Amino acid sequence: MSIKLETRFLEGFISDAEMASMKEKTVAAAEKLNSNVQDKSQPVGWVTLPENYDKDEFARIKAAAKRIREMCDVFVVIGIGGSYLGARAAIEFVKGENHNLLSGNDPMILFAGNSIDSDSLYETVELCRGKRVAINVISKSGTTTEPAIAFRVFRELLEKEYGKEGSKERIFVTTDARIRPGTLKEFAEIEGYETFVVPDDIGGRYSVLSAVGLLPIAVAGCDIDAMMAGAQKARKEFDNTDYETNSVMRYAAIRNILHAKGKDMEVFGAFVPDLRFTGEWLKQLFAESEGKENKGIFPGSVIYSTDLHSVGQYVQEGKRIIFQTVITLGAPRHTISIPHDEANIDGIGYIEGKSLHYVNDKAFLGSMAAHRDGGIPNVILEMPCADEENFGYMVYFFEKACAVSGYILGINPFDQPGVEAYKTNMFRLLGKPGYEA
Ligand code: PA5
Repeated sequence: MSIKLETRFLEGFISDAEMASMKEKTVAAAEKLNSNVQDKSQPVGWVTLPENYDKDEFARIKAAAKRIREMCDVFVVIGIGGSYLGARAAIEFVKGENHNLLSGNDPMILFAGNSIDSDSLYETVELCRGKRVAINVISKSGTTTEPAIAFRVFRELLEKEYGKEGSKERIFVTTDARIRPGTLKEFAEIEGYETFVVPDDIGGRYSVLSAVGLLPIAVAGCDIDAMMAGAQKARKEFDNTDYETNSVMRYAAIRNILHAKGKDMEVFGAFVPDLRFTGEWLKQLFAESEGKENKGIFPGSVIYSTDLHSVGQYVQEGKRIIFQTVITLGAPRHTISIPHDEANIDGIGYIEGKSLHYVNDKAFLGSMAAHRDGGIPNVILEMPCADEENFGYMVYFFEKACAVSGYILGINPFDQPGVEAYKTNMFRLLGKPGYEA
């Protein structure tokens, strides 16, 4: 198994009897998910995606990524929410958060259209000046305002540089397969841009292993075959309803037991800054899936040891409404050992020669024990290392855990009706036709 569910820092918070009492509900939730897969009308295409993905499109993604890597210095990925976070999480997980500064011959990967802030968009455009640019606009609905604005700005930039015809080979569109008036798909058809599909039965936050994530991930130089292989491995391991051995089901059960005991907030943690966007992706996955009908666990995220010096205080001694789910990695990509210094004025001579990974592990063990003793249950998910295969595996693990957990909670984990409320107000304030007060 690529994720080991470790419960030693949960001791005292959940009894065997409580775990056993959650069996029936958890098995029922997993069976409901399975029956929805058979049904085909439900948005659960991600369950079988690791095997059933469109192989022709996958080959086209790899071919496009190869061309893009040859023809551009900067690849701008335009999208928001589920059309943004998965790709960024994957690239930083595998290549590191400084991949753009250390990328060698790889194109720089920039993200746009994930806010409406003018400074952010201005700076992204400035970073492209004088560089060879290609863009990928991603929107399942094809109508989301934030990416639509950024797409206009970047289209103008490309058309000025390469002309209307020349920019066509530099614009890639990932969207719904159906052509509907006023959508990105219709636009792409009219202009003749190459398109990739967000499958109908896969919602935004469950779409990272479709073209939504795979094209930017492949352009960044990650091995998407290995990523799909990792997801396939997870699919095989968790495609059962054996409550005693299935870690997805056990994690879903643990979350709901803790929630029923007043733990209303789950903090996703890691001791590796490269997992910052994994935390962002997890927050979106769980918040949009579970937070509805006045229910749900509020997700937060931390990077330790950085955040031990900020929110760590709250975790240790604040309101006891939190549990943590912490991802650990067995090995870093690079090893640094603490150098010898004869003078030892800084007083850290006692750890000289030790690797940073060793010290980080002690920070992990020390803080988990302290948080547990302070009343915080900690679920530990141990992973061997941060590579493509483990990313694919992890995505599948969490997607399935989120769906099973949501069914236990009694909500539909695949819609997001609340996301629409702000849009209606904003459109009215902007004077969008059809949204007048
Ligand atoms: O998970 C979801 O459905 C949302 O977060 C969407 O991904 C997000 O709102 C962006 O939507 P779209 O891809 O339609 O532009």
